[in-house]
Amino acid sequence: MARPPEIRIFHDMQSWAAAAAELVHAVGQEAVRANGRFFIALSGGTTPEILYRALTSPTFADRFNWSQTVFFFSDERGVPPEDPQSNYALANKALFGPLKITPSQVYRMAGESCDPQAAAHEYEQQLRLATKASPSARPSLDLILLGLGEDGHTASLFPGSPALRDNRSLIAVTQSPKGPPTRLTMTLGVINRASVILFLIAGTGKAGVVRAILDPKTEAEQQLPAALVEPEGGRLIWLLDQAAASELPTHQRQMNT
Ligand code: 6PG
Repeated sequence: MARPPEIRIFHDMQSWAAAAAELVHAVGQEAVRANGRFFIALSGGTTPEILYRALTSPTFADRFNWSQTVFFFSDERGVPPEDPQSNYALANKALFGPLKITPSQVYRMAGESCDPQAAAHEYEQQLRLATKASPSARPSLDLILLGLGEDGHTASLFPGSPALRDNRSLIAVTQSPKGPPTRLTMTLGVINRASVILFLIAGTGKAGVVRAILDPKTEAEQQLPAALVEPEGGRLIWLLDQAAASELPTHQRQMNT
């Protein structure tokens, strides 16, 4: 039985970003203490940049030793790594560069590949190798960061996508209704194996879909991709700002700070 999601709501983006950074550090420290390394998957979209800015800020930059961290991506757009729409490009500019992360610590999805299926298969091999997961096992990452689209998509798992029912692949190719069409994405099989899943969500534009997933009224809302994120044994944390939480029922809208 999946644990209920932990809903954390913050007045402003500064306290939201600080809480996100502290969570990443706490999960990282525990992973390194327990296993000598920290497996984290970064989310796409624009919201993670706020977290990256916090993690590289004077307040946090020296608080965590990143040398044991291995970075993956929960999804990538079908564009080259230097393209401004590339999730890797954002992480490289706003996180890896400032923290002096070495290339060997980063597993990038080859969004630019002209054979996305082969790129998905290749990334699946890399993920298994890096996490020492046996051919039949699904790797369990320490932390997976996710965003949320207004249509209820997360990573690059869109409503109606066949990849939502794919319980064999770790990495799938999907089509996005918006932005770069071709996507590579982790499937629910990998996402739900994580020890900690952290949704990073902010802004009024997300209030409706946040309510639809955390307080569903219909079967369709229960079937939205982000609603299917249910860790098999891990923690599920929703980090929201006040605007994104504004349509939640009162009992779910307890402010943190
Ligand atoms: C992507 C993402 C996607 C994103 C949401 C939210 O590559 O587009 O992984 O799932 O997280 O669309 O995006 P914003 O943070 O920009 O609102």
